Amino acid sequence: MHTKKIKEILSRAKREISSLDAEILLEMATGISREKLFSNPEKTLSDKVSENFFNLVEKRKNTPLAYLSQKKEFFTREFFVNKNVLIPRPETEILVEEVIKDFTGGSILEVGTGSGVISTTLKLEIPNLGIAASDISGKALRVAKKNAKNLEAEVVFFKSNLLSFFRPTLSFASFLSFATSPVAFLFNLVRNRKMEYNFEIIVANLPYVISREITGQIKEEPKIALDGGLDGFDLYRRLFKEIAGNLKKLNTKKIFCEIDPRQKNILSMEVEKYFPGAKVKFTKDLSGKIRVAKIFL
Ligand SMILES: C[S@@+](CC[C@H](N)C(=O)[O-])C[C@H]1O[C@@H](n2cnc3c(N)ncnc32)[C@H](O)[C@@H]1O
Repeated sequence: MHTKKIKEILSRAKREISSLDAEILLEMATGISREKLFSNPEKTLSDKVSENFFNLVEKRKNTPLAYLSQKKEFFTREFFVNKNVLIPRPETEILVEEVIKDFTGGSILEVGTGSGVISTTLKLEIPNLGIAASDISGKALRVAKKNAKNLEAEVVFFKSNLLSFFRPTLSFASFLSFATSPVAFLFNLVRNRKMEYNFEIIVANLPYVISREITGQIKEEPKIALDGGLDGFDLYRRLFKEIAGNLKKLNTKKIFCEIDPRQKNILSMEVEKYFPGAKVKFTKDLSGKIRVAKIFL
């Protein structure tokens, strides 16, 4: 039999999940703000609401909170998330900050956009920016488009396996004309005519988890958003190769990417291989670990 007083319901749930999670789930189940719930601890809730709440508590044991609440804060803005996208991480805000610091003009291409947090944030922080963002997953792109629309950020999204959109027979502009809405295409053409050949910065937070380390609750997130192969660097290795092969057409000057701290040396070696003479700078995250690599070509 479920207890029904707010304070009793909460204290029971807090034995199974964290206090903060219990409060957020109760907010979701009741539609009442946490402040109001706290100021009415003696208030009783209906059996139905109480049952919904304990169902959420049960799900929380195996499901990340963001998938239950369908939201995650990034750069102080609220983004929609679902099981088709990686839950945005706070470390990725550092990647965005670094791009903003080093941006000197031109357009930006994001590869592997997921929920669209990086490109949407960049567009909102640099309003005149021309930005395109791709992902291999159509389902992820739907989430990214929804977020950009909700937050009123104009980003051109398109589906592509890394840089496979960049075929010699098909110019990027003509590709965009049918891959995106005519409005978005017009926007790019008028506002930033050289967009297709002027991706000053390529930014990516590609999957970089070592395959055998995909364990525990991160297994709930899409494998395609996590799995970086044997050393976690498969996707970046391929991306560098593809950028190097199209460098003149892309006109890219800088590549910014989020990595695992243990990939510092692998990255430096791959940069030397594909972009001889390029300079690499690393930025640490809040726990003092290398998280962002900035490659100056
Ligand atoms: C680590 S998630 C990052 C998502 C988002 N940018 C973020 O920072 O929260 C990596 C993303 O790369 C995408 N991805 C994986 N392989 C890809 C490929 N070959 N080409 C393009 N995107 C790819 C995944 O679908 C996923 O959305």
